[in-house]
Amino acid sequence: MAAHDPRIVAAIVVAAGAGSRLGADVPKAFVEVAGTPLLSHVTQRFLDHRAVRDVVVVSPPDFVEDAAALVPGAHVVAGGVTRQESVERGIAALAVDVELVLVHDAARAFVPAEVIERVIRALADGAGAVIPTLPLIDTVKRVEGSRVVETPDRGSLRVVQTPQGFRRSVLVAAHTQDVSDAPDDASLVEALGLPVLVVDGDEDAFKITTPADLIRAEALLARS
Ligand code: CTP
Ligand code: MG
Repeated sequence: MAAHDPRIVAAIVVAAGAGSRLGADVPKAFVEVAGTPLLSHVTQRFLDHRAVRDVVVVSPPDFVEDAAALVPGAHVVAGGVTRQESVERGIAALAVDVELVLVHDAARAFVPAEVIERVIRALADGAGAVIPTLPLIDTVKRVEGSRVVETPDRGSLRVVQTPQGFRRSVLVAAHTQDVSDAPDDASLVEALGLPVLVVDGDEDAFKITTPADLIRAEALLARS
């Protein structure tokens, strides 16, 4: 059980993106839902989790002081041009004794504690890498040009969320590879040929990307 795992857990919350698809006049992490910035909402979920000791927030470089003022319990560092660079800045800021690392998109600001718990428990049970996933709702097709070439079996496909959890040594090895910008951290572990375990995600861990997602987030908080 995670509650009895002596290994030290840290969370890296990557929040350095611009939020260009959201189109606000501040970086996405500073956009408010129910009067509170997304960065505060999301960081608090990790600060509140009893199994997480440290939280590293990776902020837009020009907003490090603003971010630090919002999340006094976290250690704030400046992010990079790509998400992967931002994760690497977060890894570099981890305390030496941290053994298990969660990497989380600030944009998934309302991740339930249960998802964080499931990821930590899988790591505690021995997984080197673990990701929360959901089944696909829609049928998907693979296309080339304007032509369908394949209808993959939906039953074997998953939508991927965060936090993704890693044994520290696995995450470090994954990020040592020379990849321009990986779609997620787990894909770097896959590239090493190492196993990645899946646990159940949650619809409330959706990624805030467009203005419609802010309406969904307001509704979520109104019912909770
Ligand atoms: N991210 C980051 N550093 C970057 C780019 C992205 O830390 N250079 C983070 C974002 O802050 C976000 C997560 O990675 O929490 C997922 O990225 P995304 O949802 O695409 O956010 P943005 O890149 O900010 O949005 P957009 O692509 O619309 O600009
Ligand atoms: Mg982006």
